[in-house]
Amino acid sequence: MGEPMEKFFDGRQILADFITSYYTDFESDLTFVAEINKQVVGYLTGCRSQKRQRMIFMNKIIPPVCLKFLFKGLIFKSKTRKFCLNCFKSVLKGEFNHPDFSRDYPASFHINIDYKFRSLGIGGELIKNYLECLHQKRIRGVHVTTISQKAKEFFRKMGFTVLYYRKISYLDHKNLFFIILGKKLQGNNTPSANADTPFRKRGMTDLTG
Ligand SMILES: CC(C)(COP(=O)(O)OP(=O)(O)OC[C@H]1O[C@@H](n2cnc3c(N)ncnc32)[C@H](O)[C@@H]1OP(=O)(O)O)[C@@H](O)C(=O)NCCC(=O)NCCS
Repeated sequence: MGEPMEKFFDGRQILADFITSYYTDFESDLTFVAEINKQVVGYLTGCRSQKRQRMIFMNKIIPPVCLKFLFKGLIFKSKTRKFCLNCFKSVLKGEFNHPDFSRDYPASFHINIDYKFRSLGIGGELIKNYLECLHQKRIRGVHVTTISQKAKEFFRKMGFTVLYYRKISYLDHKNLFFIILGKKLQGNNTPSANADTPFRKRGMTDLTG
C-alpha cells in the first residue's frame, strides 16, 4: 500500500529479492527505472508471461530466498513471525486462491515510486513505456495485482479494469482487498511512450529500460 515493508516484515533484502529477483535476473529487458539526478526514484519490473514467471519463481527464486530466510533467523523476529502466521491462516482460508487471468492477460508487473516523488507523472510514464514494449512484442494483455485502493484508481486511470477482488486478512488492516486489474493490448490504442506526458513536460528525468 505504498508503506515501508518494515511495518510488517523485518528482512528488507529478502523481501526485495522475493519480489524483484525474477524480473531483474530473468527478464531484465522489461525492467524500467526512473531517475532524477542519477538517483533511482521509481521502478517497474514486468514480464511477458506470468505462467513462465511462476514456474521459474517456484524453482529458482523461492528455494534460495527460503534458505536465506532460515539462515538469517527471521522467523524469530516478532513482526515477521506474526506476518508468516497470518499468511499461513490465510492459506487455510483460501485467500491466496485467485482466478488465473494469464490466458487473456499473460503479462504482469510490479510498480513502485518513492513516496517523495509520487503524483508527478512518473508511474504513468513507466507504465506507458512498459505497455509500448508489450505492444511491440504482440502480447495480448497485461494484468496487475494490488491491495491499495489508491493504486487501483491509478491503474484505472491508465486504462485497466477491475477483473477480480476479494477480502484478505494477512495484513493488520480492516477492509483490505486483493484486487486484480487487466488491460487488453492488441487492437487497443496503447498510450504512446513518446507522448508529451506531464512528467516529460516537467523535464525532470530519464527512463532507463
Ligand atoms: C500507484 C503509483 C505507482 C502511481 O504512480 P504516480 O507516479 O504517483 O502516478 P502518476 O503521477 O503517474 O499518475 C498518473 C495518473 O493517474 C492519476 N492518479 C494517480 N493516483 C491516483 C489516485 N489515487 N486516484 C485517482 N487518480 C490517480 C493521476 O492523477 C494521473 O492522472 P493525469 O495524467 O490525468 O494527471 C505510486 O503512487 C506508488 O508507487 N504507490 C505506492 C506503491 C503502489 O501502490 N504500487 C502499486 C501496487 S502494485
